[in-house]
Order: sequence, then structure tokens, then C-alpha cells
Amino acid sequence: MRRYVIAGNRKMNFTPSQATAFINEIKPMVAGKDNCDIIFCAPYVTIDAAMKAAEGSNIKIGAENVHFAEKGAYTGEVSAQMLKEIGVEYVIIGHSERRQYFGETDETVNLRTKAALAAGMKVILCLGEVKEQRLAGITKEIVSIQTKLDLADVSAEDMKNVIIAYEPVWAIGTGLTATPEQADETCGQIREALCEIYGAEVAEATIIQYGGSMNEKNAAELLAKENVDGGLIGGASLVAEKFTAIVDAAQ
Ligand code: PGA
Repeated sequence: MRRYVIAGNRKMNFTPSQATAFINEIKPMVAGKDNCDIIFCAPYVTIDAAMKAAEGSNIKIGAENVHFAEKGAYTGEVSAQMLKEIGVEYVIIGHSERRQYFGETDETVNLRTKAALAAGMKVILCLGEVKEQRLAGITKEIVSIQTKLDLADVSAEDMKNVIIAYEPVWAIGTGLTATPEQADETCGQIREALCEIYGAEVAEATIIQYGGSMNEKNAAELLAKENVDGGLIGGASLVAEKFTAIVDAAQ
């Protein structure tokens, strides 16, 4: 049985004080809703404030990226050890905005993933096709290749600490959502790729989220699908009522 994971991706939103206010607002709204893990991945400088606000609740705070080197001359980057030391357990890696605007490739995504896992963190690994690839009918090939490249040299044992977020790029922040059938089919294709690499047991145990304009209206239908084990939520994670409704859909 896979457990639902509902994660908010804050992106570049909320200052530390706004993050504190938001967590304080949503804490009582999701209290006792234990049928899923609830995570907010936040900008580095807001993590500490968000963690303090979340203390004693069922909300976990994660990061939105991590560098692959232990330390050194990488201006502007943050290492896994730094995040570990302040108690960060989850980190998003390979988000399409990182790939699109910040030059990240399957190779750097793989390096970051391995560094985070080596530091004992849990990774939310994002992948998904762009619109042209879906229209060309090559979505399965694309997500399969991304799965294999992004997880190169990640052991079956380490897969316990990997969540995959299937995020069709054309659905992110656009208000266009994959249909429940499309989400289920593509998450299933990612599971097939995992099966090729690791075998059926790991493939069946791996949590695969859907992300891309998931909201309070479409969450229940998406989460009802066999291969959809949760959501990575951007826009709707910024509004307490909307995010809580998605958590409710996972109960
Ligand atoms: P969205 O973002 O929910 O605003 O589409 C999802 C994501 O980018 O993870």
C-alpha cells in the first residue's frame, strides 16, 4: 500500500513572516488528517521560519533544490549538509522551472539526487514531457528516458527515499490539467520504467505524484487513480482553503 504524499511547492513566494502566518493558518485546518504526508517545500531563507511555525504539527517543511557538491566555489548554491543541519528532510529536485530557466539537465538532476540521498534526505524528483512531445505521441519514451537518466546509479535501497512527481510541463501554472486518465497512464509508464530498472517490488512501492494545476476541484478525481499517489501543488498551495481541500481529497 502506497501512502499519499501531498506537497506544496512554494516556488518564489512568501517572505519568512508570510510563511509563518501561512503555516499558522493552515496548521489547525490539516490537524489530524493523517491519511497522507503533508509537506511544504519552501525557499531557503523561509525554511527556518516555516519549520518553527510547523513544530508539533503534521506539516513537514522541505527545500526546493540542493547542490550536488559537498562544499566549495559554487556561489549562490546550498549543499545537502547545510539543509540536513537545519533539519530539512525533503527536497524537490529537477523541477521543470529549474530545467527551463536555470539550465539544469538530467545529468545535474541526477547528481543532485545522489547528493541528497547520500546525505540521508528524501527527494521529490520532478519529470515530465513538454507540449510538443505529448502532441508528437512520445510522452512514454520521454518520461522513461528521464526516469532512467535522473535515477542513474541510484540503488534500489535508496529508492525508499525517492518520490517521483510526474509534472507535464504544459500543465504547470497554466490552468491546464492532465485528465485523470492521462495522469494515471503516464504515472503508470513511469512505474514501468522503474520496473525495468529495479523490478516490480520497488516499482510498486514508489510513490508517484501528479503535479500541474492540481487544485481543490480536480484533486479527488486525480488522486482516485491507481497510479497517482499524491500531488505536487504550486498555485493552489498558496491558498490555505484550496490546499486543505486537496489534503481532504486524499483522506
Ligand atoms: P502548479 O505548479 O500547481 O501551479 O501548476 C505545480 C508545480 O510546478 O509543481
